[in-house]
Amino acid sequence: MEQNNQAVAMPRIGEPAPAFKAVTTQGEINFPEQYKGSWVILFSHPADFTPVCTSEFMTFATMEDKFAQANCKLVGLSVDGLYSHIAWLRTIKEKIEYKGMKNVEVKFPLIEDITMDVAKAYGMIQPGESNTKAVRAVFFIDPKGIIRAIIYYPLSLGRNFDELYRALIAMQAADEFSIATPADWQPGDEVIVPTAGSCGVAKDRMDGKADMHCYDWFFCTKKLDKDTVLKKILKK
Ligand code: BEZ
Repeated sequence: MEQNNQAVAMPRIGEPAPAFKAVTTQGEINFPEQYKGSWVILFSHPADFTPVCTSEFMTFATMEDKFAQANCKLVGLSVDGLYSHIAWLRTIKEKIEYKGMKNVEVKFPLIEDITMDVAKAYGMIQPGESNTKAVRAVFFIDPKGIIRAIIYYPLSLGRNFDELYRALIAMQAADEFSIATPADWQPGDEVIVPTAGSCGVAKDRMDGKADMHCYDWFFCTKKLDKDTVLKKILKK
């Protein structure tokens, strides 16, 4: 794809996450190598010392333990430098009180990417939106280093972190229980079972002989307890 006369790399779902080494607020990282065995959310924000980004960092940092319980680490990125990152995160901790959150310490690494090398490798620079800032990108990368979901938001739109958590749990449930999850699924809701491989099985399902509810031959759901899901996914 050509944009502004430059080839733009856009990583895709199902592909290995592009590898890089980078300086962060928590030291150097070797990505995604050092995250193998965990899920990791790599996300970008447009700029330090901006309001939407500040609200996002406070929210994500407050939820970090919840993501860790689901074996998921967080890594942020913007095209600002390390000292800007450090000063911004210190300001957040020392000065910002927002929606009941205060004294918020961002403990996950925030990558400095002044060269934009990482942002470009992940398709985070989208010139129609901005040539100089990363859009709000979210990459879900699984324990094998494979990209499993990608979300892009524009600069003006703060993300919904409950939705990121829901998506993480839904993908893990799909892996663990070989199911799919319907619209707006939450743990405890019915899940979708794979389409029947033969007419006989489809007929049994439609006749109510299988332990599931079929809306038609191609659309069957079954119960999956919230406890069963969370016991499998969440660390003690
Ligand atoms: C913000 O985080 O508030 C922001 C950053 C870049 C452009 C617009 C808003």
